[in-house]
Amino acid sequence: MKTFHTVAELRAELKKERLQDKSIAFVPTMGNLHDGHMSLIRRAVKEGDVVVSSVFLNPMQFSANEDIERYPKTLEEDKKVLKANGCHYLFAPDAKEMYPDGKRSQTQIEVVGLSNILCGATRPGHFVGVSTVVTKLFNIVQPDCAIFGNKDFQQLKVIEDMVRDLSSNVRIIGVDIARNEDGLAMSSRNGYLTEEERRIAPAMYKTLLWAKDALLENRASHEDIREQAQQKLETAGFKRDYFEIRAQDNLQTPSEEEKSLVILAAAYLGHARLIDNLRIELA
Ligand code: PAF
Repeated sequence: MKTFHTVAELRAELKKERLQDKSIAFVPTMGNLHDGHMSLIRRAVKEGDVVVSSVFLNPMQFSANEDIERYPKTLEEDKKVLKANGCHYLFAPDAKEMYPDGKRSQTQIEVVGLSNILCGATRPGHFVGVSTVVTKLFNIVQPDCAIFGNKDFQQLKVIEDMVRDLSSNVRIIGVDIARNEDGLAMSSRNGYLTEEERRIAPAMYKTLLWAKDALLENRASHEDIREQAQQKLETAGFKRDYFEIRAQDNLQTPSEEEKSLVILAAAYLGHARLIDNLRIELA
């Protein structure tokens, strides 16, 4: 696997691949890679002749009160696992390479509507940072397809809409959530949990499963299910962010007839803000 730190070097290398008609599958990441990321790389290996990944801890998607400095930086380890799983090229730029004039003077991409609800309401500006960096990365790598995890389901929707709205020629692929044996969705943020919090954390997935059953059996109104779920999470030791039942395609409050739903949860556990979701098809 070759690693590049500059846009010019990566472009020159990928140009050679494209001249040989090779298709490019791309997996953008922020590093501190775990098995969830590796399932994205393995999918990329199936989708493209050439697999490109990026490790860039994007300052534009963190607000001032979100401690980007605390985010674990493990580039050497990341390189090893990327190589072992079949990645051909790693792009690992620094912030100056991506934002030469600083993030404040950077042109911004905003997927209107979707960017300000759910996680976007709790983290203002977050999705503008994501859409902007992903646009830049797509322009640099020019992939045929790009692979994202379903765990960040809202992010996946934002990127799908962005690609459609900007007539971008990148096929977006969502990959199922990788879970630990006890159900906890894999995430770099799990590393922030103490032993005690790690023991509590699977309650989020259990609560999603409970809500899914309640919906399938039509046991209560969406409002009641949401409130009971929040209480279950609080009893387990979480602090509230949101627990929502939304339409899968646009993340809006579903109509009575809507059959494809997604249950989305976000809550705080100690220093970590955990998110998870479960999709559900009503008969
Ligand atoms: O999901 C992530 O790790 C990031 O949001 C992404 C897509 C790499 C953009 O920085």
